[in-house]
Amino acid sequence: MVTLKIDGREITADSGKTVLEAARENNIYIPTLCVNEAVAAYGACRLCMVEVTRGNRKRLVASCLYEVAEGLVVDTQTERVVNIRRMVMELLLARCPNSSEVIDMARNLGVDKSRFQPENQDNSCVLCALCTRVCREVVGKSAISLVSRGTDRQVALPFCDDSDACIACGSCVYVCPTNAIKMEDRGDVRIITWPSSAHEFKMKKCASCGSHFAPEKQIAFMMAKSGLEAEKFELCMNCRP
Ligand code: SF4
Ligand code: FES
Repeated sequence: MVTLKIDGREITADSGKTVLEAARENNIYIPTLCVNEAVAAYGACRLCMVEVTRGNRKRLVASCLYEVAEGLVVDTQTERVVNIRRMVMELLLARCPNSSEVIDMARNLGVDKSRFQPENQDNSCVLCALCTRVCREVVGKSAISLVSRGTDRQVALPFCDDSDACIACGSCVYVCPTNAIKMEDRGDVRIITWPSSAHEFKMKKCASCGSHFAPEKQIAFMMAKSGLEAEKFELCMNCRP
């Protein structure tokens, strides 16, 4: 256990926790974009910046990565902190000028417009890497990754087109904070549209009612993981006894 101060409030936290976790446990708000409990912190968005003071040293750190320490003093609302968050939001607004999620987030932080030149009007990916981290850390597949640099950086399948590793589970779709990945089940196919490309995946047909209920590759993955026989995966949820 360590004792620290956040915004003048003395709090205690378990050693090893991050400043963000300690703040959340004490209902102190710090904005975030790239954090999700399902995956390890990554520090991509920089929205969670706070100012920390240790001895005579004051500096800006990403609270989702920075660990609590005895005697640490944290400020979440200084002018420097507010300005840097606004700058981050302006950069995100320029990257995703028409994303309603980004626009709402910016408004909540007092930002209505960006001083930077807008990039691709259709882009809504903020490069938070939640989708790639969930795919790797939770699903265990690493089917998508962030590729290229600078303004060309994007989420893509290997070689930007090879969908072999993807089992079409949709985890990336559910975790994306800005709806940049779309998924549609249309008859016997599931279509996943990433910012860089779209792919179709064959769906399995229920042996009883004939509805298409899950991607064939996801079922094959579950069979291999669980060691259960194929007949356990023949029926949809509605037809299972
Ligand atoms: S597609 Fe969504 S989850 Fe993936 S990096 Fe972009 S914004 Fe984040
Ligand atoms: S929430 Fe900390 S860098 Fe994104």
